[in-house]
Amino acid sequence: MNRKPLLAGNWKMYKTSRQAREFFQDILARLNPFPADREVAFGVPFTSLEAAVQAVSGTPIIIAAQNVHWEPEGAFTGEVSAPMIAAAGAGAVIIGHSERRQLFGETGPGVNKKIKAVLPAGLRPIVCLGETLAEREAGLTFEVLAKQLAEALAGLEKAAPGALDLAYEPVWAIGTGRTATPETAQEAHAFIRGWLAEKISPAAAGATRLLYGGSVKPDNAAQLMAQPDIDGALVGGASLTADGFAKIIQYDRS
Ligand code: 13P
Repeated sequence: MNRKPLLAGNWKMYKTSRQAREFFQDILARLNPFPADREVAFGVPFTSLEAAVQAVSGTPIIIAAQNVHWEPEGAFTGEVSAPMIAAAGAGAVIIGHSERRQLFGETGPGVNKKIKAVLPAGLRPIVCLGETLAEREAGLTFEVLAKQLAEALAGLEKAAPGALDLAYEPVWAIGTGRTATPETAQEAHAFIRGWLAEKISPAAAGATRLLYGGSVKPDNAAQLMAQPDIDGALVGGASLTADGFAKIIQYDRS
């Protein structure tokens, strides 16, 4: 199964629309020619969606939101819907990031509702999962991943294989500089792919891209990406500078 690698930045709560424009001008100059054998996406703040979409128009870069509400519209102060994100020109949404789960009360069933809302809007879900340090140390990693997968993908057994991307982001590796070793990441990815094969379908397991996230940097991206079940990276801090993220995008695939 041919899974095109996806290098995705997650800007989190960084960059105004003006800073976004400046960033894309800089990185596009560094990505010339644009590498055709990989995909590139950026999760940007809602306020920068339209500026980012304009800045990358005519390039293959996909702009993503970092959250979404599951209803198309309604009395939900402060929320933004999938049709609104699609109308802004975005192509994807990051769903269930551990910061949203830990700091904003996001739940597994909520993640599931969000995935079901974005697919019909033509947006690609990038669904995050991963264990905390305490869970890993207690030997619960696979149990936690299985529960997060079951909650996120409930009722989605018939979705087109490969309709969404999954990002394994161990919480202990996010923003800590403590990257999972390629072997540790591969082990979790292999578990996730096995779970998909068993609970969804072999076709879904073969077609679903599994991204790794957690302290991905220019100097460790190639080793991580060389693992058989790592199909991409979801990058926080190192996606904020054009120089650093261009290097990650241009990781050596040979
Ligand atoms: P860092 O790359 O800063 O560790 O963040 C990872 C992340 O949370 C991406 O979603």
